[in-house]
Amino acid sequence: MKIKKAVLPVAGLGTRFLPATKVVPKELLPIVDIPTVQYVVQEAVESGITEIIFVTGRGKDAIEDHFDWVPELEQVLEERGQIEVLETLRRIAEMIEVVSVRQKRPLGLGHAVLCARDLVGDEPFAVLLADDLIDAQIPCLRQLLDVFEEKKDSVVALMRVPREEVQRYGVIRGQGLVSRLYAIQDMVEKPAPEDAPSQLAIIGRYILRPEIFTLLEKVSPGRGGEIQLTDGLSRLVRERKVYGYEFVGTRYDVGDKFGFVQATVAYALKRPELREKVKEYLRTVILEK
Ligand code: G1P
Repeated sequence: MKIKKAVLPVAGLGTRFLPATKVVPKELLPIVDIPTVQYVVQEAVESGITEIIFVTGRGKDAIEDHFDWVPELEQVLEERGQIEVLETLRRIAEMIEVVSVRQKRPLGLGHAVLCARDLVGDEPFAVLLADDLIDAQIPCLRQLLDVFEEKKDSVVALMRVPREEVQRYGVIRGQGLVSRLYAIQDMVEKPAPEDAPSQLAIIGRYILRPEIFTLLEKVSPGRGGEIQLTDGLSRLVRERKVYGYEFVGTRYDVGDKFGFVQATVAYALKRPELREKVKEYLRTVILEK
């Protein structure tokens, strides 16, 4: 069965980016001129997803608006002959079907996914976290879908991280199978470095079987007093196989200030019209220091 739906939890308050996120959803902060959430939606679309389910909260309506038509603006652009930008806007509006559901209280990522239950229905689905930007030749979600289509069981994206950083992630204990693929035996949310079962961290891309919903209902608040997706998954591991796949690509944590700056520089260097200017500028800045 082909996976068509992807859940994007976007209800988070974005306190790490205040004051920028006082009125602007953090998912709309741009890397160069594209909001972070658009890169993530594009990855989903390029992987074959046709419906995005945003799990939103108060003050987040602008995210849905971003993927909608804007007739007034389009008319002005048409009159002014700004056809290129007009076409860009139209492509964004045509990109994907969008539906949304509210997460009324900030009870955690597991709870956010549970809020999408009725919209997902009884079928496997994807989850993408908009804080993780992944630059990859084959979209990261596509890499996971390839595993799912072969194994028919849940798959999470993995990345090896330094031991001192494991406490920022869900971390797995797993058995290596073929190259990059692991059979997950257990997982723990944000362990202390000395307690971490490995240095394989979960990155915000998941393919989940619908059984996860029933399990998430039973999960009690864990790390940070929140209902953690990782805790739901560690229950799933006891019932069915769950795989981890060390994806090929570069991941930027745009929920972190330094990660955001790194992504800005890296994505600017990928743009032909900016590349040389940015390189030259970086050289001058370094020489001046
Ligand atoms: C979430 C998940 C965590 C995962 C991380 C990836 O944490 O709970 O398991 O490793 O995303 O970015 P958050 O960064 O939302 O605290």
